[in-house]
Amino acid sequence: MYQIIHERAEDAPAINTLLDQCFGPERHHKTAYKVRANSTAIDAMSFVGISNGELVASIKYWPLLIGNITPAILLGPIAVHPDRQGEGIGVKLIRDTMQTAKDLGHSLVVLVGDPEYYERFGYVSAFDHGLELPGPVDRHRFLVCELIDGALEDVRGMIMGA
Ligand SMILES: CC(C)(COP(=O)(O)OP(=O)(O)OC[C@H]1O[C@@H](n2cnc3c(N)ncnc32)[C@H](O)[C@@H]1OP(=O)(O)O)[C@@H](O)C(=O)NCCC(=O)NCCS
Repeated sequence: MYQIIHERAEDAPAINTLLDQCFGPERHHKTAYKVRANSTAIDAMSFVGISNGELVASIKYWPLLIGNITPAILLGPIAVHPDRQGEGIGVKLIRDTMQTAKDLGHSLVVLVGDPEYYERFGYVSAFDHGLELPGPVDRHRFLVCELIDGALEDVRGMIMGA
């Protein structure tokens, strides 16, 4: 069993350890980290999974602008503790938080991740929609999802942390 709750200030060290376990310390050099370098994660969209008092999962979102005009949010990182992967925690975290994002009025989510995992939530190629990233990334891993039908219409350009 686990509970999903809003991230608390005291979760920061355990989140850092979890991210090191899942992505390694090299993660800081990834393009997604550069995009959010000068941003602050959205408090209302930062959640953790807790099981028996231990932190087992984390998800965050960051404010973005696409083409200097269109507001969007960047999903990441999401991580589930290696001992707890495959139990459905990741799917629940993403589905719940995408609904929260919608409820808060967000219309577009961008991320860098495995398309095979994210297509189930409605993510499609961001490059195919004319979006760009300020750094190298495997083309097929740059993804976008409309939370509101038509939100991608006429949206083009570079994503930047806001
Ligand atoms: C990716 C991650 C967040 C998924 O969370 P999870 O709780 O393990 O996943 P769930 O149990 O909710 O979902 C399991 C399903 O996702 C699939 N899946 C998990 N990781 C996947 C991946 N990288 N690519 C494709 N499918 C994946 C599983 O095969 C399974 O599919 P099924 O439902 O068809 O059987 C988690 O495994 C993790 O933290 N991995 C390491 C960090 C990472 O890679 N994070 C970002 C991914 S871009």
